[in-house]
Amino acid sequence: MRKTIIAGNWKMYKTINEAIDLANGLKRELFKLDFAAVEVVLCPAFTALSEVAEVLNETDIQLGAQDVYYQDGGAFTGEVSPLMLKDAGCKFVIIGHSERRQFFGETNETVNKKIKASLKHGLTPIICVGENLQERESDNTFKVIQEHIKGSLVDISAEEMLKTVIAYEPVWAIGTGKTATPEQAQEVHKYIRDLLSKMYGKETADEIRIQYGGSVKPENIAELMGKPDVDGALVGGASLKADTFSQIVTKASEVIK
Ligand code: 13P
Repeated sequence: MRKTIIAGNWKMYKTINEAIDLANGLKRELFKLDFAAVEVVLCPAFTALSEVAEVLNETDIQLGAQDVYYQDGGAFTGEVSPLMLKDAGCKFVIIGHSERRQFFGETNETVNKKIKASLKHGLTPIICVGENLQERESDNTFKVIQEHIKGSLVDISAEEMLKTVIAYEPVWAIGTGKTATPEQAQEVHKYIRDLLSKMYGKETADEIRIQYGGSVKPENIAELMGKPDVDGALVGGASLKADTFSQIVTKASEVIK
């Protein structure tokens, strides 16, 4: 049984005070939630991590960061190490988000190094993969997904894979309001699971959680979660308000598979 995981990627939004308000709002909205059924992760900007960690202290809501560097420390101006993220209270870290691939030169090779460094320090990487519109329209979706998965997971063992989460985020669905249909999401999620099965064996692949990301909202979460290989969501825009994010979490927790 894969436990549903819903994560909010706050991207480059929210000052420290705004982040504290949002985390407090979510705490209030989600206190009745059955956390045995769903894992909830908030990923604020680096500047707000410690303060949000304090708000989430003694709740079941987890903290994650949006990126990490792969060195433990050193002269790497502007970067943040896995140790620093642990220190700030993080359990999760998003790695290889399409915005990092698109705007900041992230490659499968750097994603691979970041995954290894995160695992070494006990952080759970949320590994993002996904095709852009042109790649989908030219029928290259599976090819791109395969490159992202194989390139990002070089020398990662089956045991380590069990400590990761995969996020399928079609770039054309991010921030566009254009969600993949549940069928489109399921098709790629199944492809990813079959690929993981070939790489790590069926038993391992069956345990790895695969989230969907891209214009997830309260109106479409239940249908997406209804698909057998969709194990959760990575939510951008709709995670910036306590009411919409908590509705997504609640609806996801009610889907029984
Ligand atoms: P939106 O939910 O705003 O489309 O963003 C998805 C995303 O990029 C989450 O990482």
